[in-house]
Amino acid sequence: MPAFATADEVTEAARSALPTELWDYVSGGGGTEITLRRNRSALDSVCFRPRVARDVSDTRADTTVLGIECSAPVLLAPIGTIGLFDAGGAATCARAAARAGTAAFVSILSTPSLEEVAATGAPLIYQHYTRGSRAWTLDLFRRAEASGYRAICVTVDSPVDGLRERELRHRFDRGKAQAQPNLGRDARRELQAELTWSEIAWLAEQTELPLLLKGVTHPEDAVLALEAGVAALIVSNHGGRQLDAQLGAVEVLPGVVEAVGGRAEVLVDGGFERGGDVVKALALGARAVLIGRAMCLSLAAGGEDTLVETLARLQEEVSRTLALLGVSTPGAVSREYLVGG
Ligand SMILES: Cc1cc2nc3c(=O)[nH]c(=O)nc-3n(C[C@H](O)[C@H](O)[C@H](O)COP(=O)(O)O)c2cc1C
Repeated sequence: MPAFATADEVTEAARSALPTELWDYVSGGGGTEITLRRNRSALDSVCFRPRVARDVSDTRADTTVLGIECSAPVLLAPIGTIGLFDAGGAATCARAAARAGTAAFVSILSTPSLEEVAATGAPLIYQHYTRGSRAWTLDLFRRAEASGYRAICVTVDSPVDGLRERELRHRFDRGKAQAQPNLGRDARRELQAELTWSEIAWLAEQTELPLLLKGVTHPEDAVLALEAGVAALIVSNHGGRQLDAQLGAVEVLPGVVEAVGGRAEVLVDGGFERGGDVVKALALGARAVLIGRAMCLSLAAGGEDTLVETLARLQEEVSRTLALLGVSTPGAVSREYLVGG
């Protein structure tokens, strides 16, 4: 039996285990947290429209993302401060992903080094923030390639930091909260506000690995991303931590999926807690989802084993939801199975 039977039990255990300022740091969002709440309320407002009497005796949750085999359409999001929730940081997440049969994104800002995380042997995607010179960026791309990362993801929703009022209240300094071994001496302290589409096209040319963009929400930006040579998009508002007062991620997902028109894989994150949430995203055209806070809270509640349990629970819930909907594979669900959204 898993130590925690439901997502809520994990959240409650994490809340008791974390100091208030860390709980507020991880669970909070930008501004007055409208985007944060909207991610969740948008998911809740989509309803299923099931079909019955179909043979669902062989329902499966597994899929592929950029050719990487995943036991369920659920990947681990990049979290720069993951070391605050488990001393092993991104290496613990990578091990949990490998045990659960899925892939993990590794933030440039996380601990330990990219190479140490890669030594776990898990399928990994390196998440980059442009905040240094081109030479500095290329050095990080080469390090990710040399240590076996399967793709590179550039997060584009953070030209400057979001204004997080809960962090301000606690005088919480993210930069000081943990070491950032990947940045090196040549990195700038601040994010790179001058990033443009021509630079993204240049970045896509600098690696043989597929390039993902994380943080696209506008259909016209999705088209610009494809023109720039991007292989996959992550529809994301950074879990509501950057620009406040946006639509929920699953509300903007269909517009991006339509603009992409099958030319690239589209992932999504923001507010995903249960298998039913994941299936809603699939029905709206996503290939898979990323979990951020659910991962941090699992680590805080019970470390690597609890994160493996969370991933196993999500896999089981995805396949149970698909069966209850009357479909047998993640690829078979579509908007026909939804009302709203
Ligand atoms: C504590 C924390 C740190 C994060 N750090 C990063 C980061 O370094 N890079 C990045 O692209 N996104 C970062 N994110 C955003 C997540 O990758 C992801 O987009 C978001 O958490 C998804 O929403 P969810 O937490 O509701 O699942 C962070 C999110 C949290 C909660």
